[in-house]
Amino acid sequence: MNIAVFCSGNGTNLQAIIDSQKKGHIKADIRLVVSDTPDCHALVRAKNAGIPTLTVESRNFKAKKDFEAEILKALKKENIGLIVLAGYMRILSENFISAYKDKILNIHPALLPSFKGAHGIKDAFEYGVKLAGVTVHFVTKDMDAGPIILQSSVKVTEDDTEETLAEAIHEEEHKLYPRAIQLFVEGKLKIEGRKVKII
Ligand code: GRF
Repeated sequence: MNIAVFCSGNGTNLQAIIDSQKKGHIKADIRLVVSDTPDCHALVRAKNAGIPTLTVESRNFKAKKDFEAEILKALKKENIGLIVLAGYMRILSENFISAYKDKILNIHPALLPSFKGAHGIKDAFEYGVKLAGVTVHFVTKDMDAGPIILQSSVKVTEDDTEETLAEAIHEEEHKLYPRAIQLFVEGKLKIEGRKVKII
């Protein structure tokens, strides 16, 4: 199976996925790293690992449809069977998502359905939760709302700051995402309505 990873930032999840693949824990090819910004560190990580990259900036396109068509063209060419969103800061259209129905994963740094959106860690920390965590889910048209594949919790202590919590959450992400990806690659994820069965 060929995988494309979409990133916009530091790419620590991308790195964890690359490392897992190299260790043989993910039995698939990472064929492409797609970014919406030319200067993110994720692209450096991809290049260091010898993975082809594609940067498609929305500002170069009049319509979202054309921006996405450019990406879809590359995915088709590489025969991509799984899209992994790893800190990709764009909302994909319904049209794009239906082109890869049930083949797009996302990781969110909170225990969904709590603390959706771009500031999951900060929002959970400020809310005062005692258990924070990480969710890997399928992507559907509603943001951070697709069927949940795996979740993992992280305890919040009184000594934690937002920064120490973020560190612990990222550490957990780097274990959880490769596991979820390998389950997908092995064909072990069965979506039944809102639920995902691991078969
Ligand atoms: C992660 O916290 C992930 O949960 C969220 O965006 C962040 C990406 O971090 N979707 P990185 O670029 O993988 O370091």
